[in-house]
Amino acid sequence: VNAITVSGSAGKYDVLVGSKLLDEIGNHIATRLKLSRCAVISDEKVASLHADRVLRNLALSKFAAVTITIPPGEKSKSLEQVGAICAQMTAAGLDRSSFVVALGGGVVGDLAGFVAAIYYRGIPYVQVPTTLLAQVDSSIGGKTAVNTAAGKNLIGAVHHPVVVIADVDLLRTLPPRELNQGFAEVIKHAIIRDPALFDLLTNFDRDKGDFASLVRRNVEIKAEFVAADERDENGKRALLNFGHTIGHAIERAGDYRALLHGEAVSLGIVAACDVSVRKAGLSDSERKKIVSLLKQIDLPTRLPSNISREKILRALPFDKKFEGGRVRFVVTSKIGSARLTNDVAMEDIRATVMQL
Ligand SMILES: NC(=O)c1ccc[n+]([C@@H]2O[C@H](COP(=O)([O-])OP(=O)(O)OC[C@H]3O[C@@H](n4cnc5c(N)ncnc54)[C@H](O)[C@@H]3O)[C@@H](O)[C@H]2O)c1
Ligand SMILES: [Zn+2]
Repeated sequence: VNAITVSGSAGKYDVLVGSKLLDEIGNHIATRLKLSRCAVISDEKVASLHADRVLRNLALSKFAAVTITIPPGEKSKSLEQVGAICAQMTAAGLDRSSFVVALGGGVVGDLAGFVAAIYYRGIPYVQVPTTLLAQVDSSIGGKTAVNTAAGKNLIGAVHHPVVVIADVDLLRTLPPRELNQGFAEVIKHAIIRDPALFDLLTNFDRDKGDFASLVRRNVEIKAEFVAADERDENGKRALLNFGHTIGHAIERAGDYRALLHGEAVSLGIVAACDVSVRKAGLSDSERKKIVSLLKQIDLPTRLPSNISREKILRALPFDKKFEGGRVRFVVTSKIGSARLTNDVAMEDIRATVMQL
């Protein structure tokens, strides 16, 4: 297994990426944690597919585990679920000398990570990401959160896992639409950081392709931006928001139902490229290359007719990236690079959204 090291405020930790890792999970945890009891937190769907193997392997390494499941889906990322999970943990007798295993996609990772951040004022946790999005993005960087009625991810904590164990075999049971949305973040990473990754993606065969090296490269990229700016303060981590300013507004305009996050990000990338052609000197031929790669992955590149452009524009000013009417907007001048600019005005965004 190849480990990628991520640096966080609480020290360094490994991200393990490879095949058949679910059958080694106990060992990987045992070498890092001298604790014996844990809660495996998962969603019902992931648990039905993969929890048995995890529990069997944890038992082999003499861990005592209780399984706690939540209904699949974004709705479960709530304070109510945090309360319910904590209650089940205390009922199971888990105290400060226990840890959490987050087995699932980004929803489980964010929720279980937040539980671990606050349970007994913080206990260790292990991320076992099971979606492409979680393996390349949400499991890395230590951001945990839940949603409230007022918005997404408004309550949370920075709490880094002890280790991230990303078994790419798990991606085989992932529905195609979920796999595709993960590719949106992968393409984003390529655009902002790695032209070679971009080229690799244009030839990537999802049936025969090497997901382990693909995920590994993406973890390296995310880890690099996180290490440079853990708390989102100096503008480096903000580059990971490429495609997300307009993408989030589209997601909101579709009431979080019309599109998956990665699908909205795909449209946000198309929009950010259009803005980049107008404002940052991105060539039209590179813009076209990006749009055709998104199409090749079956990601949307035109706005669905049931999402209103006006609604997208109304969703924008509430975005936390808007400051004093001006946007700190991430643009790319060339595939493989990105920068923040204050030079994008609301009129530019409007012009772009109207064409999307
Ligand atoms: N913390 C961060 O830095 C960060 C970054 C990006 C996104 N996120 C969060 O991640 C969440 C989205 O994550 P997601 O896209 O992984 O969604 P998800 O966790 O809801 O998983 C998507 C669906 O796939 C199913 N699933 C998961 N793994 C599977 C597998 N191996 N086989 C079959 N089905 C499987 C799940 O049951 C669910 O129905 C959002 O809440 C978002 O806010 C967090
Ligand atoms: Zn995203």
